[in-house]
Amino acid sequence: MAENTVFRLENVGKVYKADKEADFEALRDINLEIYEGEIFGIIGMSGAGKSTLVRTLNRLEDVTSGQVNFYGENLAEMNGAQLRQARQSISMIFQNFNLLTQKTVLENVMLPLKIAGVKKSKRKEIALEMLQVVGLADKAKAYPLQLSGGQRQRVAIARALTNNPKVLLCDEATSALDPKMTEEILNLLQEINRTRKLTVVIITHEMSVVEKICDRVAILDDGNLAEIGKVTDIFTKPTSKAAKTLVFPNGLDDMINPFDRGHGLKRLVRIAFDGTSCNEPFIASLVEETGKKVNILSANTKSVNGIGYGQMVVELPEDETDQQIVLSFFAGKGLSVVEVEEDD
Ligand SMILES: Nc1ncnc2c1ncn2[C@@H]1O[C@H](COP(=O)(O)OP(=O)(O)OP(=O)(O)O)[C@@H](O)[C@H]1O
Ligand SMILES: [Mg+2]
Repeated sequence: MAENTVFRLENVGKVYKADKEADFEALRDINLEIYEGEIFGIIGMSGAGKSTLVRTLNRLEDVTSGQVNFYGENLAEMNGAQLRQARQSISMIFQNFNLLTQKTVLENVMLPLKIAGVKKSKRKEIALEMLQVVGLADKAKAYPLQLSGGQRQRVAIARALTNNPKVLLCDEATSALDPKMTEEILNLLQEINRTRKLTVVIITHEMSVVEKICDRVAILDDGNLAEIGKVTDIFTKPTSKAAKTLVFPNGLDDMINPFDRGHGLKRLVRIAFDGTSCNEPFIASLVEETGKKVNILSANTKSVNGIGYGQMVVELPEDETDQQIVLSFFAGKGLSVVEVEEDD
């Protein structure tokens, strides 16, 4: 991809100053870029610094070191008018929707336009159009408390779209929703990303959210950037400890332990498969084409952006020649095969 960079973070650090207690370093030397038109995920445990990081993107939070550039301009050096303009093109949605319960759905969606000084008839026209985009035109006159959580988040999305932003920041936007509503909201975000060429930044602590819609992901671990890359790469080959924990929440040990390794003679390999290179049932083909069998010790498969990805730990046959036959079969299928070491 030859992308335009929307955000570039250079050596970003954030220290929260405390009066009595010790200062708290929430972000440490973060370097990353977010490209135009992508869905970028930021994932990490609670307290990792995700919300702090996302708040530096529209300068709700000032950085204490380094800088955040928005389309090449340092946010910290912008004057009032420039910052207001930048913020107009960066919308945000949250876990708790932040809707005004005394106002109707339509009035909620119109609010940013009112603040921007758009005249009333135009406000209504745009707001109704945005409610259409999120599939809630029929709820214009309803009040937020009459809606489900998923519908409230749709209203918040409609409101976030009224000023025609370039970027939508979503801080745990689906964390308060059940799986079905989460799916609906993620589908909507994906649709808006595609049809409106909107760059979407998604903060979450759930790997399933990242797997479903993100193109690239940054993993934050205790204020540090542990890993960044394409979701498919990180899913198939996590390198940092934090990434491995997210991809295999029960640990690699769990993948291997249920079975005894016997006398240490058995060879175990981990096969990473990727629906783009191999979407056939390759274990069945192995038996069919070579007559050799492997023992599947564990498997972990997922659908990432509609493509099947997964990992499997298998035990190779005891005979060395058979092992070679099996390994070349896997290699021929474009599968990545890594020997599982004793202490892996
Ligand atoms: N205004 C603040 N003053 C002092 N410390 C803060 C402040 N805001 C956040 N922190 C601390 O910074 C750390 C990172 O917080 P942040 O809210 O960015 O984490 P998070 O990854 O979003 O967590 P969660 O998943 O729970 O939302 C936490 O330890 C938090 O206590
Ligand atoms: Mg947070």
